[in-house]
Amino acid sequence: MTLHYYEALARPAQPRGCVLVTGSNRGIGLELVRQLAASPWPPHHIFATCRHPEGPRGKALRDLAAQHPSIKLVQLDTVNVPSIQGAVRAVDSHLKDQGLNLLINNAGVSSHATLHSLDSQEMLSVFATNVVGTLQVTKVRVELLAKGAGKEGLSCSRAAVINVSTKLGSIGLCLGVLQAPMYPYRASKAAQNMVTRCLAVELQEKGILCAAIHPGWVKTDMGTEEAPLMVEHSVRGILTVLASLSQDTSGTFLDWEGNSLPW
Ligand SMILES: NC(=O)c1ccc[n+]([C@@H]2O[C@H](COP(=O)([O-])OP(=O)(O)OC[C@H]3O[C@@H](n4cnc5c(N)ncnc54)[C@H](OP(=O)(O)O)[C@@H]3O)[C@@H](O)[C@H]2O)c1
Repeated sequence: MTLHYYEALARPAQPRGCVLVTGSNRGIGLELVRQLAASPWPPHHIFATCRHPEGPRGKALRDLAAQHPSIKLVQLDTVNVPSIQGAVRAVDSHLKDQGLNLLINNAGVSSHATLHSLDSQEMLSVFATNVVGTLQVTKVRVELLAKGAGKEGLSCSRAAVINVSTKLGSIGLCLGVLQAPMYPYRASKAAQNMVTRCLAVELQEKGILCAAIHPGWVKTDMGTEEAPLMVEHSVRGILTVLASLSQDTSGTFLDWEGNSLPW
C-alpha cells in the first residue's frame, strides 16, 4: 500500500513530526507546505521558510499560515549566514527539546546561460544557492535531525534531508544539452547531487536518511507555463515518495513518481 507522507507520519507510536521547507513562499515549496498543512494529520510544526516573509512575495504564504496554526513562518535566506543563524534560533525557540524530522532543501535558482552567454558571476551565484546554501542549511540542522532519529532504521518520519534536484543535473542522463544547455543550473545540481550522496553516507550513522528528488517539469515561475505538470500533482507524488523511503533507498535519486534516476 502506498502511503502519503502525512499518513506515514501518523503511524502509531510515531511522533507528529516537525518539518522545515526552504524557499516556501512560491512554487513547489509553497505547495509542499500547503499539502502538509492541509493533511488530516499535519506535522506538529511546519517551518515554512523564505527570504522575505513580510514582503509582497510572502503574501501567499502568510495567507496560508493564517489558516493553519501548524505553519510557522521563518525568515531564511539560504546564502546569508546571519539569516541562517537567525532561522536556527527561531526554529529552536518553537521546538524546545523536540527534534526535527524532515528538512526539505527546496530553495533553488535557475539560469539559462549558455556556453556563449555565461559569466563567472552568474555561475557562482547559482552555485551559492543550489549547492552552498543547501549544504549550509543542512550543516546547522544535523544535530536537531539526529535528535528526531530513532533506532529502528531510516525514514522521513524519523529524520531525513531531502534535496530537491533535477533530471537536468544527472550526468548519467545528460538530457537535451543542445535544447537546454543551462550550464550553471545543470552543473550546480550535479554538485548538489554529490552533496546528497556524501551526506547519505556520512549521516547514516546518525540515523538520518538523505535523498535527492526530481519533481518533474512543473508549472512554476521556474518551470514556466510550458511545463506539463501541475504543482499539486508533483507535490502529491513527492510526498508519497517520501513516505516510501527507507534504509534501502537512502542515498538514491528518485523522481516524483518514485522512479530511480542515474546520478
Ligand atoms: N519547476 C520545475 O520544473 C523544476 C524542475 C526540476 C527541479 N526543480 C527544483 O525545484 C525547486 C523549487 O523550484 P520551483 O519550480 O518551485 O522554483 P520557483 O518557483 O522559482 O521558486 C524558487 C523558490 O526558491 C526560493 N529561493 C531562491 N533563492 C533563495 C535563497 N537564497 N534563499 C531562500 N530561498 C530562495 C525563491 O524565493 P524568492 O521568492 O525569494 O525568490 C522561491 O521561493 C528548485 O530547487 C528547482 O531547482 C524545479
